Amino acid sequence: MSTQVGVALLGLGTVGSSVARAFADRGKRLDAAAGRPLRLVGAAVRDRRKARDVGDLAVTTDPFRLLDDPGIHIVIEVIGGTSPARDLHFAAFERGRHVVTANKELVAKEWNALHEAAKLAKRELRFEAAVAAAIPLIAATRMLAASRPRVVRGLLNGTTTYICSRMESGLGFDAALEEAIAKGYAEADPTADVDGFDAAYKLSILISLLEGRHFHPDNVRRTTLRGLSADTVKAASSRDAKVRYLATADFGERATKARVGPEEVPIASPEGAADGPTNVVTIETDLAGRLVFSGPGAGGDATASAILGDVIAIARAMR
Ligand SMILES: NC(=O)c1ccc[n+]([C@@H]2O[C@H](COP(=O)([O-])OP(=O)(O)OC[C@H]3O[C@@H](n4cnc5c(N)ncnc54)[C@H](OP(=O)(O)O)[C@@H]3O)[C@@H](O)[C@H]2O)c1
Repeated sequence: MSTQVGVALLGLGTVGSSVARAFADRGKRLDAAAGRPLRLVGAAVRDRRKARDVGDLAVTTDPFRLLDDPGIHIVIEVIGGTSPARDLHFAAFERGRHVVTANKELVAKEWNALHEAAKLAKRELRFEAAVAAAIPLIAATRMLAASRPRVVRGLLNGTTTYICSRMESGLGFDAALEEAIAKGYAEADPTADVDGFDAAYKLSILISLLEGRHFHPDNVRRTTLRGLSADTVKAASSRDAKVRYLATADFGERATKARVGPEEVPIASPEGAADGPTNVVTIETDLAGRLVFSGPGAGGDATASAILGDVIAIARAMR
């Protein structure tokens, strides 16, 4: 086997810990898939004192210690948000590292700048995990480059699906949201999920890929799920429908219209059947027809699966 590939993790939370565990538990499988040994060198965190189940992995609060290490070839950023993640992406490219991320917000907002930085550095930016976690939707979307997109529609946020389905069992919005937070589906600050930012970031990434140019998330019309009433949920049910937090892009002749918000879907549809972190995404194009993707759209291991797929793809292509 050829030279070892050094990997650094920036962030060791839900997703980062799953990635670290996968390196510890299935190293041989990863090496075989990459065609060369992969080594997780260390991880950067915010708080060193937190207890973590990551064996003897070296942990630092200074991400630049990892970025500056010449033995690191691939940087996985799973901190989230734009600061300090944005600067760390640029710093990684400046040092000639490849970047793999699950950070939908950063990729959606900084599409052009990140792609330009990667191109300038002749390094890869990969973000399969940023949309629909385990579903290889980014790879599939890239394979549709010859087709003209018509519609993208689906469930891109598991928290809102969970809240809607719990309201069908009689819970009010606030109680369903509290339950989602208690079960770890929603953050303590649920804004990104229930106000549609998370779904808008993911939809903007899919549109940007399908159109081959940046579609900014500010151009996605967002309607909050907050205040969804029990009456609305009941009324949908009387029409054999369910309320789901739907992400939709219509690719018209002139302008693409994108929106996220609560809408009715038929009970018998794939969206109507989903009740938790399952994501369902339909893409319609002129050449490929109607494609439907479904699977785990959140969670540490599901997200780690996509991240490691990206890491392996980069390592295989390295000379
Ligand atoms: N969770 C999911 O199911 C999921 C699915 C798909 C995509 N994603 C995306 O994956 C990313 C990570 O999500 P997550 O759920 O793993 O988040 P998380 O549990 O909050 O973990 C964030 C990690 O980043 C570290 N961190 C924060 N600020 C830092 C800094 N300034 N320097 C170094 N490390 C810092 C934190 O350190 P401490 O541990 O010391 O606090 C923590 O380890 C986000 O972009 C998210 O949108 C998550």
